[in-house]
Amino acid sequence: MMHLAFLLLIIFTDGSSSQKVCSYQDVVEYLNLTADNSVFRMTRPVLDHKRPTVVQLDIILFALLAVIEKTQTFVPFVWVIMKWNNERISWDPAQFCGITQISIPKEMLWKPDLFIYEMTQKDESPQNPYMYVSYDGTVSSEEEMKVVSTCKMDVHKFPFDIQRCNISIGSAVHCVDEIRVFPFSNSSRATQFSREVIRTQGEWEFLQLTVTSQNFTIDNKQWEYLIYTFTMKRRPLLHVTNFLLPILFFLILDLASFFIEDRRGEKLGFKVTILLAISVLLLILNDILPSMSNKTPLIATYCVVIFALMLLSLLETILVTYFMEKDCASKEKIRLRENRENKQDTFITEEKRQSGCLSICKASDGEKQHELLPMVQEVNNSVQARESDTLLLILEELKELQNILNLHLVCRQDGGKSGLLAARINRAFFIFYITIVSLFLTLIFIAWTT
Ligand SMILES: *[C@@H]1O[C@H](CO)[C@@H](O)[C@H](O)[C@H]1NC(C)=O
Ligand SMILES: *[C@@H]1O[C@H](CO)[C@@H](O)[C@H](O)[C@H]1NC(C)=O
Ligand SMILES: *[C@@H]1O[C@H](CO)[C@@H](O)[C@H](O)[C@H]1NC(C)=O
Ligand SMILES: *[C@@H]1O[C@H](CO)[C@@H](O)[C@H](O)[C@H]1NC(C)=O
Repeated sequence: MMHLAFLLLIIFTDGSSSQKVCSYQDVVEYLNLTADNSVFRMTRPVLDHKRPTVVQLDIILFALLAVIEKTQTFVPFVWVIMKWNNERISWDPAQFCGITQISIPKEMLWKPDLFIYEMTQKDESPQNPYMYVSYDGTVSSEEEMKVVSTCKMDVHKFPFDIQRCNISIGSAVHCVDEIRVFPFSNSSRATQFSREVIRTQGEWEFLQLTVTSQNFTIDNKQWEYLIYTFTMKRRPLLHVTNFLLPILFFLILDLASFFIEDRRGEKLGFKVTILLAISVLLLILNDILPSMSNKTPLIATYCVVIFALMLLSLLETILVTYFMEKDCASKEKIRLRENRENKQDTFITEEKRQSGCLSICKASDGEKQHELLPMVQEVNNSVQARESDTLLLILEELKELQNILNLHLVCRQDGGKSGLLAARINRAFFIFYITIVSLFLTLIFIAWTT
């Protein structure tokens, strides 16, 4: 009745006035689209139940919020654009001043129950409350979603890795006879679209988005879903400068330490320090990589091998030091004997110094007794004596130092059989070390870049 009256009214007004005014509400009333009208919300909007509802959708990447290897979590922020047909809706735009589409609240109409298989957390962000309805019954809806999803990541080539994460979207309950899903844009179009809109990528560089269609079968029932595969490449610069290079620098330091004159464990101490520094860096690695992975990450191989090489060079230094010490031990004994003979002379100088000190002491006593003037001469004398004694002592010390140095030089240069052996071991090991290091570094970089 109302419908007819409305039409008549339109025809009537059309005839009488040249300027017809329409509102969206007119369309809504025409459709009898009210909040309490369950016809539009309850059932799938097809007039023949055998006809499937075709849902066309697009997923566009808006931001890469996080890719966490440790927990295997992939968090993109995406736009999901959906389009389907509602057979219960249609109007003639000509009757409504050319209105071809209206926006209505989302809860007024039936919506496909699309869900994302990999999603592990419900999205709580506020939703756009409206969707568009066209005169031919096409309903288009758009949702922005932060998708917290699981993604199996392969960290074998970390930090030069490329990750592929899937987001599968399909109907939760309606099987393929009821809801079909199709991609709106093909892979190349979706990639291009995402590249245009993407805002933040952070550590990752978005490479491409591909879409494939799959069927999922249980008990002779099939569900259709789309798989969107996001391919992204890590920007390795931060990890290279924070991790790979420092370890390499420590390795170079370790190599350089072969040129340190070996003097009483100095070299040993240096190498142990480098090894400790490396183990601190290894702790950082533990924070980044997930513990479960069936293939050893190359970065772990890199660290372990470098660590092992340094350990080997430390052991070699210990061995060489042992040989040298053994060789020098006999010379040391001779030196000690010589020292004991020299002791006499030292004792004499010591006495002289003592006497110098005595006069100083006397001088200070004199000061106390306010007998300054007669003592000045004596003090001057004693100060001079003390200075020369100190110089003598320094000379003595220097001589001793030179003795030790000479001894070491002798130990190193032609210090018997074991000294020579140590030098040979050192040279051979250095060549071996350099060869192994360069071979290993080239191999691992080839493995990393291919
Ligand atoms: C509109 O909906 C109301 C309530 O559901 C119903 O009584 C009425 O008959 C409907 N009108 C038309 C034209 O469909
Ligand atoms: C992602 O989907 C593709 C098919 O498009 C499949 O080959 C691949 O194994 C999936 N990856 C994961 C991690 O499930
Ligand atoms: C993808 O779609 C665009 C138009 O949307 C078309 O020009 C292009 O040829 C399509 N590419 C493929 C591989 O089908
Ligand atoms: C999924 O099932 C539908 C209906 O049986 C079929 O048309 C479609 O080709 C299937 N898709 C795949 C990828 O097998």
